[in-house]
Amino acid sequence: MQTGDIIQRCTSDVETIRRFIALQFVQLGRGVFMVLLLVPIMLSMDARMTLVSMVVVPFIFIYAYVFFRQVRSRFQAADEAEGYLTTVLEESVSGIRVVRAFAREDYEISRFEAAANDYREKCRKLITVLAYYWSSSDALCLIQIAAVFIFGIGWTIKGEISLGTLLAFSTYVGMLLWPIREMGRILTDMGRALVSVGRLKEVMDTEVEELEAGFHLPEGFRLKGEIEFQKLSFAYDEAHPILKDINLRIAPGETVAILGATGSGKSTLTNLIPRLFDDYKGRILIDGVDITAYNRKDLRRQIGIVLQEPFLYSRSITANIGMALKDIDPAKVEKASREAALHDSISEFEDGYETVIGERGITLSGGQRQRCAMARALVLDPAILIFDDALSAVDSETEQIIQRNLLSRKGRATTIIITHRLTGVALADRIVVLEHGKIAQMGTHNELIAQKGAYQRIWNIQHQLELEAS
Ligand SMILES: Nc1ncnc2c1ncn2[C@@H]1O[C@H](COP(=O)(O)OP(=O)(O)O)[C@@H](O)[C@H]1O
Ligand SMILES: [Mg+2]
Repeated sequence: MQTGDIIQRCTSDVETIRRFIALQFVQLGRGVFMVLLLVPIMLSMDARMTLVSMVVVPFIFIYAYVFFRQVRSRFQAADEAEGYLTTVLEESVSGIRVVRAFAREDYEISRFEAAANDYREKCRKLITVLAYYWSSSDALCLIQIAAVFIFGIGWTIKGEISLGTLLAFSTYVGMLLWPIREMGRILTDMGRALVSVGRLKEVMDTEVEELEAGFHLPEGFRLKGEIEFQKLSFAYDEAHPILKDINLRIAPGETVAILGATGSGKSTLTNLIPRLFDDYKGRILIDGVDITAYNRKDLRRQIGIVLQEPFLYSRSITANIGMALKDIDPAKVEKASREAALHDSISEFEDGYETVIGERGITLSGGQRQRCAMARALVLDPAILIFDDALSAVDSETEQIIQRNLLSRKGRATTIIITHRLTGVALADRIVVLEHGKIAQMGTHNELIAQKGAYQRIWNIQHQLELEAS
């Protein structure tokens, strides 16, 4: 689902339902009350006049029902258009740097304009239906009033009812018609509210990921960290297989580098380890146990993932690094940030570890953000560490410091390093080359440079570049 669509459901749709209940429901109660109060009084005065006063009412309801269906479909269209507009806006605001860097302002503006025009057009259609409904349903109400006067005056002249009765009915029909007219309005507005209810229901009915089911790992227990993929195949959608028949065993404490072109499935492979997706074929074992047997919460506490584009909250650095800890322990946070070569940068900030980052605080550089995410993963001292292109924005000097730190804790955790830079493979005991979702090559650095293949090609190119640079 797109972000904007979900935001739309959580804001606009909730608001539509809230308004319907707060305003229209109250009106409905008032309408029912008025009918229950007035009809017996009218019947006790004159049954024939009561009938005349109510003759158009069924038509008002039929009429409202016809419009109710039109309003519903048009409101649905308008609501979805608004959701798309929110998505476009959300994307261009959050991707503002990319937009500017690639000089895509005009494109983004025209995309927004198209979405806004579409939304306006769909709103206009909705409002047109409502306008027709309102004006014509008022006409129906006036016909009802006219009927009372035409019949009532005729019967008064003939002496069949008294002038007092006519006067009373002329007032009652007014008192009765407005709530009934309101009920028609409620019926059409119900069309909107039902669309919103449906859209919210889709969200509510989505199955929540079961975090607690399965094998419980006791507090303080640490897995050994052996990972084994057996005949693993995976696709996000049937038509495009991403991973094909992966067989790979990673020993506890081993460091494996995964190398491969963009889109070769490196991130997908590592995302399967913490059970972010469960619908793969084949098996994944950790410490010899199928990962589907572990409960997700405990399994994920054993795994530290650092992503290329880490997400940091607008909170203090300590809160960001220590977010996975039960109680934030400043000593642990500092130790982890030293390992991630972040401590010196933090010490330069006026508020140190209490510095707030993000919108209301300072902006970290890309490399600092990555190191912050790395400290966040290290602070838990997990059994399995995954660095998904996690040092791409770190300068090579800092990268070397981090590598030295990681080297000193080598063997402490099973480590998977996804990288496109050969410097990243220096730490690895073993290198896996992925091509189009298959393992193309596997071995140590020395084995792989001796083999004809992708690794040798990349090595030659990067080596050549280094030679030229020096
Ligand atoms: N959530 C997703 N839904 C659908 N397709 C995806 C999703 N994530 C990645 N893909 C597709 O899967 C392929 C492999 O992606 P990925 O594992 O991110 O590759 P890599 O990390 O090697 O660059 C790409 O073609 C990508 O478009
Ligand atoms: Mg990736």
